Amino acid sequence: MATDDKSRQYPLPPSSLDSCLYTDEQQFTREIEDLFHKTWLRTFPSSDIARTNDFVIWEELDQSVVIVRLEDGSAAAWHNVCQHRGARLVEESGHCSSGRFICPWHGFIYDVSGKLRLAPLKNEFDTSRIDTLRTPPVRVEEYGGFVWICFADDTPDLKTYLGEIGTELDWFGLENFETRYRIDLSLDANWKVVVDAFNETWHVPFTHNETLSEVVRWGQAELHICDPHSWMTIPVRGLTDRAPEGADHRASHITHYLSFPNTIWSNFPTHLQTWSIWPDGPGKAKLVAYGLVGPCPDGLSEEDWARQNERDWNNFRAVTSEDARVINGWGKVSRSLGQRDYLFNRAEGRLTAFHAEIARRTSD
Ligand code: FES
Ligand SMILES: [Fe+2]
Repeated sequence: MATDDKSRQYPLPPSSLDSCLYTDEQQFTREIEDLFHKTWLRTFPSSDIARTNDFVIWEELDQSVVIVRLEDGSAAAWHNVCQHRGARLVEESGHCSSGRFICPWHGFIYDVSGKLRLAPLKNEFDTSRIDTLRTPPVRVEEYGGFVWICFADDTPDLKTYLGEIGTELDWFGLENFETRYRIDLSLDANWKVVVDAFNETWHVPFTHNETLSEVVRWGQAELHICDPHSWMTIPVRGLTDRAPEGADHRASHITHYLSFPNTIWSNFPTHLQTWSIWPDGPGKAKLVAYGLVGPCPDGLSEEDWARQNERDWNNFRAVTSEDARVINGWGKVSRSLGQRDYLFNRAEGRLTAFHAEIARRTSD
């Protein structure tokens, strides 16, 4: 590959993609089974289960998983399905002070690790089945202030899975950040349209003419592909121009990461916004976004830092609703007879890499 400036900025050639891949029901099922059931998925902030026996029910992708803080400080995750006759065992997130969950149907009692502790009419069952019964566990790890789960046994551990993205994120010291903001959006579009929408910058002068185009040097983004993930650096006014010569890219740019398949970070050195995009049927997606705030930078009062964070989060909300308008417009025409191939240019190389990865994983 040539190593001229353009190739360094945009490492992949243009590509195209059949638009049916965004609407086809069978493709959607393959993506759930071959991507989402086999990769590490970020669920919610670790701080949501701060105390022993705090638990959250995570429900996406037609799955229901209970994630609990155990006494030793680790987290346990298990499928929220009673092993008697399949009831939804736990109905609401909260704190389990008794350390026991009681099935609402016939009263099987489970402990916080998902193990069956008591079954009414136990002797009327085949006791050899009852004695070792537990809800099937789900792999769980914590990283970057969030709880992650994985449904597959043969996917490598989270840090290995994240690879270069994990190394990039380590620099920020996310364990010192606080999760301060959250928004949830429902979008009328395939989940991949939403991922695509956030992984290129050249829509900025059009979609974000009012909010971002004067601030973000969108035409100078540099793309990096590290399959299955990708990231980019974006120069930004007020940060890149003030950074000392030779400063680390994470100190001098917005750095923007996709952890495959559905989690995005948009990072300033001191604070960041991060969101996951959940498929909700072929033509629907949910976006759950968090604002994370690092320690107050030197030379700034806590009050000013709080004000700045409020302003940044409000900006993020405004920018996201600009994206949502275009994304929902896509939903209106997704089944149009005018839908053809989509064309990705060199500035859309992260989309090319993303869809190539999906094709690799969903082809038989
Ligand atoms: S389904 Fe849970 S006890 Fe019967
Ligand atoms: Fe955007």
